[in-house]
Amino acid sequence: MDVLQQLQSASKRWLVTGCAGFIGSNLIETLLKANQQVVGLDNFATGHQRNLDEVQQLVSPEQWANFQFINGDIRNLTDCQQACAGVDFVLHQAALGSVPRSIADPIATNNTNINGFLNMLVAARDAKVQRFVYAASSSTYGDHPALPKVEDVIGKPLSPYAITKFVNELYADVFSRSYGFHSIGLRYFNVFGPRQDPNGAYAAVIPKWTAAMIANQPVVINGDGETSRDFCFVANAVQANIRAALANLEHSDVFNVALGDRTTLNELFSAIAQSLADNNIHYTQQPTYADFRAGDVRHSQADISKAKQQLGYAPEYRINDGIKLAMPWYIQQH
Ligand SMILES: NC(=O)c1ccc[n+]([C@@H]2O[C@H](COP(=O)([O-])OP(=O)(O)OC[C@H]3O[C@@H](n4cnc5c(N)ncnc54)[C@H](O)[C@@H]3O)[C@@H](O)[C@H]2O)c1
Repeated sequence: MDVLQQLQSASKRWLVTGCAGFIGSNLIETLLKANQQVVGLDNFATGHQRNLDEVQQLVSPEQWANFQFINGDIRNLTDCQQACAGVDFVLHQAALGSVPRSIADPIATNNTNINGFLNMLVAARDAKVQRFVYAASSSTYGDHPALPKVEDVIGKPLSPYAITKFVNELYADVFSRSYGFHSIGLRYFNVFGPRQDPNGAYAAVIPKWTAAMIANQPVVINGDGETSRDFCFVANAVQANIRAALANLEHSDVFNVALGDRTTLNELFSAIAQSLADNNIHYTQQPTYADFRAGDVRHSQADISKAKQQLGYAPEYRINDGIKLAMPWYIQQH
């Protein structure tokens, strides 16, 4: 990745919030391997110490010495200020993810995803960081039926989670207008890969199904299986973050981060079963079908031309590449 070579040439100081989570821990792994100085902030709401331990194993002792962890909470402005001090780039990932979680407890999702986000914006603005990149979401497309999804055409949010991610974009835009503080939102579409939590009621579909299939447990598909998503391997999302941080943009903006592909849940089930078979794990059960899930959009597929043109984003891994690369990690977790 040419952008990593660009990084190697100068060591910068990065803040990754949500660093003990799935995407955050992949970000710190890549940054530390590129000999960057990294501050991480997390309160372990959904992240795990084991993710940080795994990154420590994957980098050299010298690279790990460049990592400073703050056990803190984005709902606390002082923690955000401490984390932003002396930082060049912020990659803000901390949030409570999951549409069903937000339907079960909208107040908790709102507190972290909106109040916490605003604290981070204020702290990053006051610390005069060079660039604030944040995790936005494809859920912002809401009920708009158009496919593929183009950044400017959005519908009404379908869940409390989607509201919070849209409000993040509104705040980012207003901070640009009011204070000249520019930021870039990356609308992730179903990111997957190593360290995505397979456990708990709010696990994402790929780790959840894979873990179930390795354990020879039943797989339940919500709906008829023809619901589709643009699944994006985490290394593509990491690349988008680094490109967004280094991009030469003098305004705030949002970009889709995905592949531009569309895979149905039925196709996904077959792809995971095939990849397991390639690893000598043979899952012979058929999936069972249940009700559609509240708040879920039916189809999702990104138009990624804006990120390609303006950020130089060039996703390197398609869904089957990603499943193949992630499979040893899932198997190891069993
Ligand atoms: N994974 C996806 O497909 C996807 C899609 C769209 C958007 N996103 C967004 O990307 C970001 C990262 O998601 P992820 O999949 O890595 O989830 P994750 O749950 O693995 O990571 C989130 C991290 O944020 C931390 N966190 C939560 N509340 C916090 C708080 N109050 N203070 C400090 N840390 C806190 C958690 O402990 C966790 O480590 C989130 O903002 C999420 O909404 C993810």
